[in-house]
Amino acid sequence: KKIAVVIVAAGSGSRFGDPIPKQYHLLGGKPLLRHCIESFAKLVPLEMIRVIYNPDHRDRYDDAMNGLSLPEPIAGGLTRQQSVLNGLRSLEDENPDYVLIHDAARPGISDDVILRVVNALSEHSGAIPTLPVMDTIKQAGHSGFIEKTIPRAQLHRAQTPQGFHFATILKAHKQFEGLEFTDDAALLEQLGLDVICVEGDVANDKVTRPDDMDRAHDRLYTGSK
Ligand code: CTP
Ligand code: MG
Repeated sequence: KKIAVVIVAAGSGSRFGDPIPKQYHLLGGKPLLRHCIESFAKLVPLEMIRVIYNPDHRDRYDDAMNGLSLPEPIAGGLTRQQSVLNGLRSLEDENPDYVLIHDAARPGISDDVILRVVNALSEHSGAIPTLPVMDTIKQAGHSGFIEKTIPRAQLHRAQTPQGFHFATILKAHKQFEGLEFTDDAALLEQLGLDVICVEGDVANDKVTRPDDMDRAHDRLYTGSK
């Protein structure tokens, strides 16, 4: 099968709270984005990887890519969803069978997780890595008073890469352009298509706030969970 990868790295990291976007911060001496590229490059040819970036950060991008000859990066949009669509459109000529869409803010992606996603695509329209929810989840109103407890047995934490049949996800993204879903599986859910959960990995948790960097470091380099 022909597999393409879209790595979304066009965000500004507002919750991370640093002028340098988190995807360009170093983890063990390498930018988060670079960790992601190297993981996918073990399994997919470089010419099938598209990075979606903010051209304002071209210098940081070039630094992160030093020595790797990837296709030209694609300019992202104001929302993650728009950035993904820009990436998918850039692959229309290649017309891959599958596409894996990954957050640059998840540097701890492993071969195992990637392969579980890819393997599930022979039978499903989409596949996403997930982890069980460990905490008790409460729904509260704006005043802070609890309204109810959401049973957690059927809840899953969604990670990336989220894998899809390319034609299916491209069509869905075109149909829902302008909306703001925070992941790609949500678009197929809207269409009633089958997206299967495969086992994720705590090392693949997203870096969102500054203290997530320490956790990411420990999980990547000391194997601690
Ligand atoms: N992303 C993107 N284009 C956007 C917004 C987000 O490519 N317009 C990417 C981010 O770079 C990140 C991934 O989508 O790799 C997941 O998004 P998130 O963790 O929300 O990152 P940011 O949007 O950068 O952070 P924040 O929401 O805190 O501003
Ligand atoms: Mg965001």
